[in-house]
Amino acid sequence: MCGIVGYLGPRKASPVLLEGLSKLEYRGYDSAGIAVIEDGKIKVEKCKGRLANLQEKLKKNEFTGSIGIGHTRWATHGEPSNKNSHPHTNESGTIAVVHNGIIENYIVLRDWLTSEGYKFVSDTDTEVIPHLVDYYYKGDLLDAVIKATKKMEGSYAIGVLLKNEPDKIVAVRKDSPLIVGVGENESFIASDIPAVLNYTRDVYLLDDNEYVVMSGEGVTLVDENKNVIDKEIFHVTWDADAAEKGGYDHFMLKEIHEQPKAIKDTLTSRIVKGEKIKLDSITLTKEQLQDVDRIYIVACGTAYHAGVIGKSVIEKLAKVPVEVDIASEFRYRDPLITEKTLMIVISQSGETADTLAALRLAKKENARVIAVTNVVGSSVSREADDVLYTWAGPEIAVASTKAYVTQLIAMYIIALYLAEMKQSVRESEIKKIKDGLLNLSERAAEVLNNKEIIKKLADKIYEEKDMFFLGRGLDYAVAMEGSLKLKEISYIHSESYAGGELKHGPIALIEDGTVVIALATQEDLFEKMVSNVKEVKTRGAYVFGIAMEEHDYIEKTVDEVIYIPRVMPILAPVLSVIPLQLLSYYVSIKKGCDVDKPRNLAKSVTVE
Ligand code: F6R
Repeated sequence: MCGIVGYLGPRKASPVLLEGLSKLEYRGYDSAGIAVIEDGKIKVEKCKGRLANLQEKLKKNEFTGSIGIGHTRWATHGEPSNKNSHPHTNESGTIAVVHNGIIENYIVLRDWLTSEGYKFVSDTDTEVIPHLVDYYYKGDLLDAVIKATKKMEGSYAIGVLLKNEPDKIVAVRKDSPLIVGVGENESFIASDIPAVLNYTRDVYLLDDNEYVVMSGEGVTLVDENKNVIDKEIFHVTWDADAAEKGGYDHFMLKEIHEQPKAIKDTLTSRIVKGEKIKLDSITLTKEQLQDVDRIYIVACGTAYHAGVIGKSVIEKLAKVPVEVDIASEFRYRDPLITEKTLMIVISQSGETADTLAALRLAKKENARVIAVTNVVGSSVSREADDVLYTWAGPEIAVASTKAYVTQLIAMYIIALYLAEMKQSVRESEIKKIKDGLLNLSERAAEVLNNKEIIKKLADKIYEEKDMFFLGRGLDYAVAMEGSLKLKEISYIHSESYAGGELKHGPIALIEDGTVVIALATQEDLFEKMVSNVKEVKTRGAYVFGIAMEEHDYIEKTVDEVIYIPRVMPILAPVLSVIPLQLLSYYVSIKKGCDVDKPRNLAKSVTVE
């Protein structure tokens, strides 16, 4: 996630770009930069940190040119720093590029371009783009961009400036958003509509592989063969605030809907059909792994719940004993840590005080630490030995949704990685899980298409005071997460229980009408779960079931059921959590709570 903008018209470009970027800062704020053509040269100003830093710099060094591009960064390849900030240029500074996305084959391209004499100054994937454009430029910027993009694999929305064609911006998108704003004698590109709304409400919503040529003559859209594309203008009627949320009412709902993409992005280049898992950011060797006698997974809140799934999955596949612990408990319980311990910390923000303390404790005892985090350059990523980034993009709503599902994906990746190294399960089994993972994004999108039943349930239960979430095995871990989600944004008290545990006490709380959400996605535990459901039904509970398609036998036992698409039971948590996220969202709305900023909570918990 990053935000890009571009402007061409009669105004000074710099203030327009800065204003546009301010509307895109939600997409990342690790660094910001602009490039403007002025006095026959491309001038670049960029720096680490928030947009305010760039604004300060530009006060001292004002740009007056009226054509430019800008970028606000959410770091993926290369830590947040001045040199990794966009725009990136070719060596002579005659081509400038802003980019949102990931160029997956950048290493191959960088090696090739280096052999052709190109010099790289940043650690980013993006820097290959200005060099590619330079390589292919033979007098026509559009031609060069088309040729460059044909070499690029991955996702991109890019804007390109060229000194030699000073009245033109060329842009293109593939798998990353890009819109074109059309004003009177002026035009804009942006990653999102709010960036242009102060100037125009007329936009083109670009599709993949559509190229844009902006010049004094207006905007032309073409395909890769330079055939002109006749596209309808979309007239924006919503206000800027709604648009920042991509048309969704809340960031949480937007982020729930971003999960299919987040799943896909997190798997990208890690799980590749027919290939062994390669994790360039994890350097643990086979020999080191043979020495590991125990794994600790340590985290807080939702990340801890991902860890609970991680424990099961790693033990099942890699056959190493795993303990999962809450960071604030772990750090004070004198855990047995030795050089043979492998610790995995999970943290969306990478700044959670207790998780960081647990990591430091492990490092002090010479254990090896892998960090799973969503924020590049965060404290846990810097202090751990190895990092596996979750590519969820910035998560703004306090209640974690897309970060959680990507943490689950990270757990599968690590488990499979260890299993492949240890050869602890049959290759055919590993292949089956990998294939299942590669299909998960589409399955998640299917779950999101089935919201009506969840809305109806929310309408029915929003005035409840207490609820139960039940599950067995992996479903129990998902029940924990569902219960937390409901508590934190709708303030309804709820408990999660392992199905078999209920009769050891809590069943005393079940009475006529008590709402129970029962997860029954685990094939080998299905019958047992049905029995547990019967136990609460007999005592008057209203039971809403979550089961896998084809398990419609459950309808005989529950009051209502939602089905998730059929996947391997080990992968079901990624899908079964989605109805629970939606349930807490709709209940919260119905109760009039502040969904994105629930009371008493903060996105990053940097105190213990
Ligand atoms: C709940 C939630 C929290 C976080 C927890 C850890 O929706 O978001 O429970 O999961 O505070 O935060 P990170 O992952 O940033 O360490």
